[in-house]
Amino acid sequence: MENDEVEATENRKKPQFGTRYLKDQDEVFQHNAWDDVEWNDDLIKSAEDKLKLNSQTLVSVENQEKYEAEANLFWDKFYNIHENRFFKDRHWLFTEFPELNLVSTSSDNSSISETEASSRVNILEVGCGVGNTVFPILETNVGSNVFVYCCDFSEIAVSLVKSNPLYDPQRCHSFVCDISADDWDVPFQENSLDFIILVFVLSAINPDKMQSSINKLAKYLKLGGQILFRDYGKYDMVELRFKNGRCLKEHFYVRGDGTRVFFFSEEEVDNLFTAAGLVQTQLYSSKRLQVNRGKQIKMYRIWIQAKYMKPLCS
Ligand SMILES: C[S@@+](CC[C@H](N)C(=O)[O-])C[C@H]1O[C@@H](n2cnc3c(N)ncnc32)[C@H](O)[C@@H]1O
Repeated sequence: MENDEVEATENRKKPQFGTRYLKDQDEVFQHNAWDDVEWNDDLIKSAEDKLKLNSQTLVSVENQEKYEAEANLFWDKFYNIHENRFFKDRHWLFTEFPELNLVSTSSDNSSISETEASSRVNILEVGCGVGNTVFPILETNVGSNVFVYCCDFSEIAVSLVKSNPLYDPQRCHSFVCDISADDWDVPFQENSLDFIILVFVLSAINPDKMQSSINKLAKYLKLGGQILFRDYGKYDMVELRFKNGRCLKEHFYVRGDGTRVFFFSEEEVDNLFTAAGLVQTQLYSSKRLQVNRGKQIKMYRIWIQAKYMKPLCS
């Protein structure tokens, strides 16, 4: 995985995100990034051509099976190498998902009563990595009645979360769980979670197993609870940069380090969540043009953001 796969955190810390539009092509190298970039026919054609080339030779069946069977071990290796230095804190989290800032809704910041404890806000982050989403949530919600569960199928990632000085067992619980597996051992009941966060994790699992994973997750949401989703979109720069021989199946690739990544269309995202009985409250593609001004290179990024709610009545 290359570091430029990760969203440009430094640009996203500022609230101006989403407000710089490229109107005059001659100005493209005057800023580092442009928002809501339109994809014209030429751009789409060039992306399609690149995908035709990079998906000519598929990874052998034998290796496909290995990447599937040992998926967690490849992520263990990733975290053994990078520890907590690779992913940056998701500071944009509260801009994109303001519902995760619950401080303003907390009635008493000094103590949490028993009534509040029973009505606490339960959040689950799936594929939490080393906690770049979990810890900002805990820090932002100090004094509020929020409890964060977080899981990852990499034992190394979970142990790194637990060894973080910000890890507080009174406020969060990190555990190992493979969401693509048939059996889950989770520390909460069905219909108990207010939010489930899926940030750049669904793309890491085999597309054949996505639906069953989402169906199971939906069972753990409360009525009215929401799934908050952000992940790679089809034609993102990262997809177009794959060399031939790394493709597992359409829009699904394996990186040099053995970790896998899928690139979604909006329609696929919508089908997955609505088939699980959830209702869409947001779905859009964030299309950004990042620019290397020194090298005069244009990098087209596409992320899909979505929110789905478990309906209050069926
Ligand atoms: C691209 S990383 C994203 C980490 C984190 N969500 C973030 O945005 O910084 C994907 C994470 O999902 C985890 N993961 C992949 N497949 C998983 C599965 N089947 N069950 C649970 N976690 C999984 C990986 O171990 C890795 O930590």
